[in-house]
Amino acid sequence: MTILVTGAAGFIGSNFVLDWLSASNEPVVSLDALTYAGNAGNLASLKADQRHSFVHGSIGDAALVGRLLRQGQVRAVINFAAESHVDRSITGPAPFFETNVMGTLHLLEAVRGYLAELDEAARIAFRFLHVSTDEVYGTLGPDDPAFTETNPYLPNSPYAASKASSDHLVRSYRETFGLNTLVTNCSNNYGPYQFPEKLIPLVIHNALIGKALPIYGDGQQVRDWLYVGDHCAAIRLVLERAAPGATYNVGGNNQMANLEVVRTICALLDARRPRPDGKSYADQIAFVTDRPGHDRRYAIDASTIERDLGWRPAVAFGEGLARTVEWYLDHADWVADVTSGAYRDWIARHYG
Ligand code: NAD
Ligand code: TYD
Repeated sequence: MTILVTGAAGFIGSNFVLDWLSASNEPVVSLDALTYAGNAGNLASLKADQRHSFVHGSIGDAALVGRLLRQGQVRAVINFAAESHVDRSITGPAPFFETNVMGTLHLLEAVRGYLAELDEAARIAFRFLHVSTDEVYGTLGPDDPAFTETNPYLPNSPYAASKASSDHLVRSYRETFGLNTLVTNCSNNYGPYQFPEKLIPLVIHNALIGKALPIYGDGQQVRDWLYVGDHCAAIRLVLERAAPGATYNVGGNNQMANLEVVRTICALLDARRPRPDGKSYADQIAFVTDRPGHDRRYAIDASTIERDLGWRPAVAFGEGLARTVEWYLDHADWVADVTSGAYRDWIARHYG
């Protein structure tokens, strides 16, 4: 049997594939469209690995996906493929709906066609795991309880709206076509291979090249940070043990204001790679115009996955952030590679 991982050359997808093959011999087919956020080099260490194959293509190409499912006798799809950056969804929403909604629809259709050819036992054993976000629930006030799986969907950004739509599509395939789906709604991830447009890697990168560290608004927006390896472990557990149709919230139980996150990164860099002038990287912090529709606070109640599957985060934020800073310091080549012309265009357009 084989699993098909979509969006496998992105941040979480590549961490998932690397973790999977370090713990299991079950082959993986990686599918990725290699958008600006995808980097086949993330999987370079698997080049000679017989258990892994990489396919350059889109989840929107149902014929291609159908071929991959049949050739690999795939028993599960883990769908990471998406446009994932909120700020880009504000600048240009359309690709978010093309990929996250229409792409997911074509992927589901390819799976439906494939399953129709399988016997009942294989159909029952098949899983479609859709990786989603806590942003579908909207924003919390300072004293609101954390998001549970029964919170209403109230997306505020085009990104969140597109992910919410895809979650609804997946649900409809479960209810209408009997597809054995699983959905995870996870909080903000950080760790190796994250594209330096998201807060944590952007701040590490900008600090090291002497640029401003942009803080939107007052920097008091709260996110619930989770180390990417813990997210991958949760997905694996959900895939293996969750009842078909289940939805799980996944979070770090680690709420922090953005300004505090940025100051912690600066302190780590001050210790690990001091500035030549002896000043702190925190001197580079710059408050900039707030993001439109900026969600004030996210927090995940992960008690359901903890109770049902025994999952909880293993990596504390301090340790995970130190590991992440170390990884970026050790992978200057990777950063140079991904911060190419297209990246510079985005930074210039967005930050001016
Ligand atoms: P990412 O932007 O780093 O990676 C997305 C990957 O999908 C890229 O490799 C890209 O090339 C690929 N892709 C885009 N369009 C595609 C298409 N049509 N066909 C195939 N591949 C395509 O994103 P990420 O941070 O790794 O997020 C992965 C998933 O997890 C997304 O669905 C995202 O919504 C979800 N998620 C992310 C976070 C987070 O904090 N990063 C938190 C919760 C959920
Ligand atoms: P981000 O990493 O884009 O994730 P998300 O918007 O999905 O939560 O942003 C995390 C938080 O950091 C969010 O509140 C926006 C804020 N932020 C900044 O203050 N400055 C920046 O340059 C970026 C990219 C984000």
